Amino acid sequence: MWRTMCPKPPWFLTSISGRSGSESVLRQSSMKGKVRKTCKSKKLPCPSVLNHFDQQYSEELGDLWAPARAVLLDPPSWQYGVMLNRFSSVADITQLLLAQGFSLLLPQTDVSKLPYNNASSVSNSTHQKGKGTLSHLYFSKCPPEDLSLQPFITYHASSQPHQSELPLNFPQSSLQCYIHLHPLRFPSQPHRPGQLKQYYLLNAASLLPVLALQVRDGDKVLDLCSAPGGKAVAIMQSATPDLLCCNEPDPHRREWLAKTLESFLPASLSSRVMVSAQDGRSVGQSESGFYDKVLVDAPCSNDRSWLYSSDRHRGQQRLEHRSRLPLLQAQLLRSAISAVRPGGVVVYSTCTLSSLENSAVVETVLNDFPDAEVENLWEEIALPLSKYFAFISLPGHAGIDPQPFLCPQNVSASCSHHRLGILVVPQPGKAWGPMFLSRIRKKG
Ligand SMILES: C[S@@+](CC[C@H](N)C(=O)[O-])C[C@H]1O[C@@H](n2cnc3c(N)ncnc32)[C@H](O)[C@@H]1O
Repeated sequence: MWRTMCPKPPWFLTSISGRSGSESVLRQSSMKGKVRKTCKSKKLPCPSVLNHFDQQYSEELGDLWAPARAVLLDPPSWQYGVMLNRFSSVADITQLLLAQGFSLLLPQTDVSKLPYNNASSVSNSTHQKGKGTLSHLYFSKCPPEDLSLQPFITYHASSQPHQSELPLNFPQSSLQCYIHLHPLRFPSQPHRPGQLKQYYLLNAASLLPVLALQVRDGDKVLDLCSAPGGKAVAIMQSATPDLLCCNEPDPHRREWLAKTLESFLPASLSSRVMVSAQDGRSVGQSESGFYDKVLVDAPCSNDRSWLYSSDRHRGQQRLEHRSRLPLLQAQLLRSAISAVRPGGVVVYSTCTLSSLENSAVVETVLNDFPDAEVENLWEEIALPLSKYFAFISLPGHAGIDPQPFLCPQNVSASCSHHRLGILVVPQPGKAWGPMFLSRIRKKG
């Protein structure tokens, strides 16, 4: 159905004009060692939202709330990941990242051997054929994270290992994300007419739902709530699905999504990546059993951003909206489970700490699907990645652990408790998240 609604993705229909590769290298090099943009103005947290968080999260997170609160209230301490684009040539950026002391988050497969990966030839041939520019559509305004623009301090590559430090048995990935132990913020890449972007800045915890989805070449994948497209780009870095349907009902955000896809993916992928505009709640009916994998990166409270609501009124509006979100989230998750084939998986994720939008949603929906079960991400993701992220595991409401606990580092002990998902809680020195994820498999 989405094919008829949106026969060609907007990013495919557009032609764009080129700029030389050397120019982009020059732009990047000129950033080196400079103190970049300074913060526009120091944003203050919204008191009513903070108050609400204090009440809810001190109860839900216990002792873990105070350090999480400290991180959320200190944007300069937030960390940023740099996800490279395998469809662009990234040698110059990689060098720059290494020189600044960034290192790889994940063990790598050899990206050069992947289909569609002919980086420089894609960006220099396919895209330069077109004329005109899409710059009028480009969302150049800074994302909310720009609250924390940091001086660009130089660290020496020799002091930081280049390779990922994850256990050897952690699955290799073609997803190249560089992170830094310190809260350095690599500069955003401006729009480059005629060229694909080389990297995407993100909260590295946003990659975890994509890792949990385990997309393989040839899969049919639905990104149910897709804009602005960060996870869609990450999916296409991880594998080459036969189909990635990026769904976004909000027209303004869908335009943003299309722009992201256009900036990161070569036109040669246009037959595999589509944009649709459905209300995600209806997809389970219209596309029942069609997909191998569905990501529900649900509309949620977005704690980082909501804490900095522009004024009391906006904060209050959001808190009222917050109470209505679990219903929508449960409807989306039900729809997603209906849209996967038997044996297929759904990953449900949010960027809030709220258990009402996380484990409670998963628990409610599972009651309606006796043929679906939650899989154990604790051992697969939380334990191996606990060096970088602070995870807690979430029992059901009638659960076994009255008090959440942090995933211990360097522990291989198995965790036999039934879990509804894992939650990345920002902590000093591990200032990633919030990010909740749960993987649900429909029995085959
Ligand atoms: C958290 S954002 C998704 C972020 C995106 N996955 C990414 O990584 O860039 C949630 C998105 O869900 C969309 N949304 C809201 N209601 C929806 C619905 N009924 N069906 C599908 N998507 C919806 C919102 O417009 C928003 O763009």
